[in-house]
Formats: sequence, C-alpha cells, structure tokens
Amino acid sequence: MINAKTRLYGLIGKPVEHSLSPVIHNALFKRYNINAVYLAFDVDDLESAVKGVKALGISGLNVTMPYKEQILEFLDELSEEARAIGSVNTVVNREGKLIGYNTDGIGALKALKRFTEVEGKRVLLLGAGGAGKAIAYTLSRLAKVVVLNRTERKAKELEKFGVKGGKLSKENLKRYLSWADIVINATSLGMNEDRSPIPKGLLRENLVVFDIVYSPLETNLLREAREVGCLTIDGLWMLIHQGAESFRLWTGVKPDVEFMRREALKGEK
Ligand code: ATR
Repeated sequence: MINAKTRLYGLIGKPVEHSLSPVIHNALFKRYNINAVYLAFDVDDLESAVKGVKALGISGLNVTMPYKEQILEFLDELSEEARAIGSVNTVVNREGKLIGYNTDGIGALKALKRFTEVEGKRVLLLGAGGAGKAIAYTLSRLAKVVVLNRTERKAKELEKFGVKGGKLSKENLKRYLSWADIVINATSLGMNEDRSPIPKGLLRENLVVFDIVYSPLETNLLREAREVGCLTIDGLWMLIHQGAESFRLWTGVKPDVEFMRREALKGEK
C-alpha cells in the first residue's frame, strides 16, 4: 500500500517511456516487501530535476541518455568507477547527499559470468561510447581487452584503463576476431535498423558473442552467431544485472535476477 512512508525512486532521461526499469524495480519492491515505488521522469532541465530530487527527498535514481555524463557536476560524491568512467547510471540519496555510481560495467561482467569464465580471457569490445567505456574499465581489470570503435580516438582514449584501442575497420575486425575468446557489441548498431557490426563470415563456433542491445532481444548479430554455433548472450542480461546492482545499492537487498528477467519479459509484451 502507498502511504506516508512510501519512498520514491525514479529514472531520469529523455526519452524514458520505453524503459523496462519501472516494471523491474516495482516488481522487486513488491517481492521483497519494500515500501517504495519507482517512476520514469522525462526530464528537460537536468539541474532543476536534481535539485528537485534533493528538495523532495527522492531516495534514488537511475540515469539514462542523454544525462549519464552531464549529471556528474550536480552530484555531491562519486564512486571510484563513476569518476574513472566519467558516467553515472545510479544515484543514491544518502541523508541528503547525492552519490553517483556506475553499474554498467559490473552489470556486463555479471551477465558474462553467468555463461563463461572471464578471467584471463581475450575480449574484443566493439564500441567506445558510454556503455563501451564502462565495460572497458571493468573488464580491463581481469581480462585482456581490445576496443575497436568507429571513431578511433575514443578507443585510444580508453588505453588509460590498460586496454588496446583501435579503429573499427574490416581488417581489425578480422584480425582481432581470430584472436578473441569473447566479443561484445557495445555499439548502437542493432538497435535501430538492426545491422550487425560483424560480417557473418568472420564468426566462428568457439566464440562467445554478447550483444548489449536488448531491443530487439535477438539482434541480427546474435541470430547469425547462433546459426554459426557460438554461445550467445543477449542485452537483457546486462540490463538485469546492472539493475540488480542499483537495487542493491539502494536497498541492501541482492535481488533474484531470474525473477527480474521474467518480469522484464512480461513487461515487454
Ligand atoms: P551508449 O550509451 O549506448 O554506449 P553512445 O555513447 O552514443 O551510446 O555510443 C554509441 C556507440 O555506438 C559508439 O561507440 C559509436 O561509435 P562512435 O564513437 O564512432 O560514434 C557506435 N556507433 C553508433 N553508430 C554506429 C555505426 N553506424 N557504425 C559503427 N559504430 C557506431
């Protein structure tokens, strides 16, 4: 029941109406008997919105495009990852202080770990945007990582994390796909017109293929990878695991990710 003690959590971004986060987090609050609700806020003026979070005592936030980087300057503290990556997807309101975290990298790592060993593996990461940066930071600590990006400069910038950066070209794809154990698509290709960043002919059976795009759930990349016989991991696993980490930061509860996935799939329909 919603009453005077109900805590409020929310997502801020623009647009937000297709997000699965409200469905997932409200289902979790119910399941764990936590008196809280989660809403999506379509925000135009970020600074005012953050002031509103403080003024109203909103307990926590998820942050999505286009505010993940812009929000840093309005927060009181940052976790080590959020500072290093320069991007925040989770905010905790701790007694009036807003603390920024980034759970994208750990979300991707946990999604991968469900299916495969990661430590010491060779990982080819495609994309050096917001998500790519977070994944590069987290994986660089336990695997060998090569990042290829359309804009080479952005991949090179990630070399500060100890990864190797290069241009997303046909030659580099060929070279590093034959080297890699795991390939991750963190480009936005696949999301809109659903083009695969990897020509099917370059895929081979013993490769693990992880696409962080979750809409559609089976992208052309994952379908072709499955046809070749690769182990495939869809982007909903990353969404679920990064959400689980946010939920843990807010409530101290480590939620059931299988339950979250079922609720998200119900919410898709
Ligand atoms: P996100 O938060 O999802 O990571 P983003 O920060 O906008 O989104 O990053 C999008 C990523 O997809 C970038 O790596 C981008 O490459 P650029 O840095 O060169 O822009 C990549 N991307 C988008 N469209 C692409 C395309 N048509 N071909 C290759 N890469 C593309």
